Amino acid sequence: MNIKIVTVIGSGTMGNGIAHVFAQNGFSVNLVDVSKEFLDRGVKNIRANLDRQTKKGTLTEEARGATLARIELSTDLAVCAKKSDIIVEAVNENTVLKREIFQTIDANAPPHAILASNTSSISITEIAATTKRPANVIGMHFFNPVPVMKLVELIRGIATSDETFAIVRDAAIALEKTPVEVRDSPGFISNRILMPMINEAIFCLAEGIASRDDIDTVMKLGMAHPMGPLALADFIGLDVCLSIMNVLHDGLGDDKYRPAPLLKKMVAAGYLGKKAGKGFYEYQS
Ligand code: 3HC
Repeated sequence: MNIKIVTVIGSGTMGNGIAHVFAQNGFSVNLVDVSKEFLDRGVKNIRANLDRQTKKGTLTEEARGATLARIELSTDLAVCAKKSDIIVEAVNENTVLKREIFQTIDANAPPHAILASNTSSISITEIAATTKRPANVIGMHFFNPVPVMKLVELIRGIATSDETFAIVRDAAIALEKTPVEVRDSPGFISNRILMPMINEAIFCLAEGIASRDDIDTVMKLGMAHPMGPLALADFIGLDVCLSIMNVLHDGLGDDKYRPAPLLKKMVAAGYLGKKAGKGFYEYQS
């Protein structure tokens, strides 16, 4: 199957980035969210990120216009599902919501359609089991900022077919990304490794081993990470980091994955990082 029409569900940071890269690479995209207000905010972000590319000279004005013209906005998921070859869900990490969405798209999408989730930690096998086509369900995990980060983790649930995997791998390559194949397991590879590092940085801060800035400097200058772990935690969202640590802790049952108490305390206080204006650092909106 050749993928031509893509529906992306959720126009937040990840969803609008995913719509952006599909549209920029020639796919027709339906971007779906629950309100016009959310959709408008998503497109505003896509425009800003395309502007960044045209200013840098990496995208022509013509390609910018063509990219935007390939994106249709909708609040009607069932209608969009009906005309899609692949649907990529990128809503909040809420299992109940994801289950509802997968039931709706399974009931409406044509039989050949692939149902993908950008989940950062929820089991693909579990999501697939809510549908009547588990062989066509796969994890397609992008990284923030989506137009910049080259990786896509492709997660095979227990029933994901070789055909589904091959089609989605080719689509990821068409997006100029590098796909990696991962078996369904808590946190997959990326978050299984990244989140314990961030969590350990938070333990170091809480234990007074070093200051916030010095912890981040160690990883930036000593390990050539573009951001230190505390700045990266703010960028990802401390609530997201906590939820992934909980998935690792529950799913793998090892206390080495226990979330740092300071992380829990900051989430309880609403210090969620960049999006909240305050996390380990302060941000102007
Ligand atoms: N959208 C599009 N392009 C963007 C962008 C955005 N939101 N933010 C930055 N860029 C582009 C810039 O235009 C620039 O492009 P160029 O290389 O062509 O000049 C390039 O990215 C670098 O941007 P800046 O010079 O403005 O800023 P930095 O050099 O500080 O880079 C960064 C910003 C790309 C965010 C960099 O700090 C970085 O790579 N940080 C680490 C990000 C990371 O680890 N992401 C993964 C998070 S984990 C995740 O998403 C998984 C989830 O499950 C938790």
